[in-house]
Amino acid sequence: MSVTAAPLLEIVDLVRHFPVRNAFGRRTGWIRAVDGVSLAVWPGETLGLVGESGCGKSTLGKTVMGIYTPTAGDIRFAGREIGHLPARERRAVAADLQYVYQDPGASLDPRWKVVHSLHEPLKIHARLSRAEREREVGAILSAVGLPDAHLDLYPHELSGGQQRRVALARILTLRPRMVILDEPTSGLDVSVQASVLKLFRNLQEAFALTYVFFSHDLAVVRAMCARIAVMYLGTIVELGETAAIFEQPRHPYTRSLLAAVPRIGGRRVTLDFALEGEPPNPRDVPSGCRFRTRCPLAQDVCAVEEPRLREVDGRRVACHFA
Ligand SMILES: Nc1ncnc2c1ncn2[C@@H]1O[C@H](COP(=O)(O)OP(=O)(O)OP(=O)(O)O)[C@@H](O)[C@H]1O
Ligand SMILES: [Mg+2]
Repeated sequence: MSVTAAPLLEIVDLVRHFPVRNAFGRRTGWIRAVDGVSLAVWPGETLGLVGESGCGKSTLGKTVMGIYTPTAGDIRFAGREIGHLPARERRAVAADLQYVYQDPGASLDPRWKVVHSLHEPLKIHARLSRAEREREVGAILSAVGLPDAHLDLYPHELSGGQQRRVALARILTLRPRMVILDEPTSGLDVSVQASVLKLFRNLQEAFALTYVFFSHDLAVVRAMCARIAVMYLGTIVELGETAAIFEQPRHPYTRSLLAAVPRIGGRRVTLDFALEGEPPNPRDVPSGCRFRTRCPLAQDVCAVEEPRLREVDGRRVACHFA
């Protein structure tokens, strides 16, 4: 990564709220799924985004992708604001920025054989002859480690690991610059997980990809990402180099997440940072610091003043007491 390079993706104060309606269709509140996230992703890196179920990872990814429109904030991709583009102009950047769904089944049409799934994006986005298309699909199929014979199968005839490879191949046919991988190893057993992670690394190199990697599996994120962002209830609470954060987490939420991983890197479970209970409902975000209701360090100020991300010990942390 060159220090002079500009970020490929830059998100500034991004907000995505969903309305809550009663039985009469009247809005009674908002789900604050993404509530003011700022991030930069640099060309060629893999940025990890970790956090418990429901903290807003998928919503963030889908908002960046244009699947949801932002409630507020900016999304810049390759130097261009894309968060508020009209649909037609947004399509011009669509191929460059791709999203691998959390559920690989969701991105593959069950009625289509693999061959159809892989040719279709090329038919839409690229002007290639049939022979050129076949060459391209063959090359990408072998890059993701699937034999040609799989072209003739339907998604339900594939294993979970193979479905993920096909979903990835489909995206790669578009030659994207950035791929958002949403929980790309969930539901895979450990040995398949390892081979899929290795594949991501090889493809990153072969296709010059930049990744954003969403996961609640800290071990996976640690293996894949040089930098991580820790997300809690729609906001980023800690952001920095993975090695430094695993060595010495500063935000109490990060500390409790790491305490819950048994003996990672020889670390013992620190019971005073054991995370208890469920995160609050994003419909009803606590005042001040949103982690305070589960935080062992919380003081009066935490109920009143929302901590901003600030530089602490070479990373950014949103806590009054970090
Ligand atoms: N389309 C939607 N309409 C209303 N609420 C939604 C919608 N999508 C997500 N939410 C809510 O937003 C919050 C964040 O959900 P999201 O799926 O982004 O979390 P996540 O971090 O991806 O969780 P997981 O790890 O389980 O995939 C949740 O409370 C969820 O119920
Ligand atoms: Mg999700």
